[in-house]
Amino acid sequence: MKIAMIGSGYVGLVSGACFSDFGHDVVCVDKDAAKIDGLRAGKMPIYEPGLDALVTSNADAGRLSFTTDLASAVADADAIFIAVGTPSRRGDGHADLQYVYAAAREIGENLKKSAVVVNKSTVPVGTGDEVERILRETNPNVTVHVVSNPEFLREGAAIGDFKRPDRIVIGCEHEEAQRVMREVYRPLFLNEAPILFTGRRTAEITKYAANAFLATKITFINEVADLCEKVGADIQDVSRGIGLDNRIGAKFLHAGPGYGGSCFPKDTLALLKTSQDYNSPMRIVESVVQVNDNRKRAMGRKVIDALNGDVRGRKIALLGLTFKPNTDDMRDAPSIAIAQALLDGGASLTGYDPEGMEAASAIMPEVSMAKDSYEAVIDADAIVIVTEWDAFRALDLRRMRELAAQPVLIDLRNIYNPEEAKAIGFTYYSVGR
Ligand code: UDX
Repeated sequence: MKIAMIGSGYVGLVSGACFSDFGHDVVCVDKDAAKIDGLRAGKMPIYEPGLDALVTSNADAGRLSFTTDLASAVADADAIFIAVGTPSRRGDGHADLQYVYAAAREIGENLKKSAVVVNKSTVPVGTGDEVERILRETNPNVTVHVVSNPEFLREGAAIGDFKRPDRIVIGCEHEEAQRVMREVYRPLFLNEAPILFTGRRTAEITKYAANAFLATKITFINEVADLCEKVGADIQDVSRGIGLDNRIGAKFLHAGPGYGGSCFPKDTLALLKTSQDYNSPMRIVESVVQVNDNRKRAMGRKVIDALNGDVRGRKIALLGLTFKPNTDDMRDAPSIAIAQALLDGGASLTGYDPEGMEAASAIMPEVSMAKDSYEAVIDADAIVIVTEWDAFRALDLRRMRELAAQPVLIDLRNIYNPEEAKAIGFTYYSVGR
């Protein structure tokens, strides 16, 4: 099966590499010539565990190639995936669909035979209809079926998620398109991954509903954590206590500084815009967005409170800057709002992150970056764990305490045992304990 992947960003590149690993013949397309040159030379534009090896082995086997030439890639493809960005539109939070529509137009102009066009970008309900209209308008001579196949990959675990998905959702209304999609995902059919065929609009809504529900689950547990702090309960045990109920499930009940990343913040906003457009209010999601936004800066205040309400002239070390571990992605990372709150209070900040420092430096130029965790905490009045990288779980706390000016540890991800941290001499704060 010949597959063209339009857009070689996070979703496009991971999906393209995994499809080629299934044995398909995949061409990844991107307008960014430097990115394509890099990929041809084996250089990944993002940090994702296992991706470089997967790309290299499939490129060497001749199943995966990269180009800026969309026309040649789509001309004889059986399935053409659209995996371009749908950022929040500036000003109103709607998903910006200009790249999706531009891709559809270009595909239409260059299609030589009938094909299935699959939307993998996260798009509001009804976008598939518009993509179909554009394709028909630009190329009335070929038969094109438009399918919605939303992506549920998590950064940092994307390859595993792609190859062993909880489910695959395919929104398509035509038998021929279903046949092509079955062929595309055949290796996963053989592994008995659940594949759900739905209507196209249903698939589009499913993606937003999934992300909004997960964002709600996190926000709910974060508020319960705040209550736990007030009443002297332990959120870790509460999460376990409710998560063991199969109806609730144990995942996404980890309290922390609020969700960030490329998906939850943008997709919850876009869902709200859709709900407004259709006059179908989603008050729960509205609250989730607001509570989560407030929470990030509130975590900065938590640090200020730990330093008796005044951080002017104090040095604070931030360990972990990315929105979660195993990525270099800084989009909507809680560290940004936390750093800003502390800078506003007059603190000086040192940061360290295993993968995110380059991206972080561009966003927070006032934060000086250290070469490792120990260097970051030298002379610090407080140490803040912002992201739960594995490398932070086994730090030598005694050495940290000796290097710091004051033994104040604020663990926003609950990675340390409070008793151990206290035994070493830290004044220890965490979330919901
Ligand atoms: C998410 C979805 O999981 C994925 O299905 C979708 O395709 C894209 O969005 P991702 O953004 O990569 O993936 O990260 P995820 O692991 O879901 O974490 C999102 C945010 O929630 C992070 O900031 C993380 O720290 C936070 N989180 C997650 C919590 O605070 N607590 C939890 O229990 C889980």
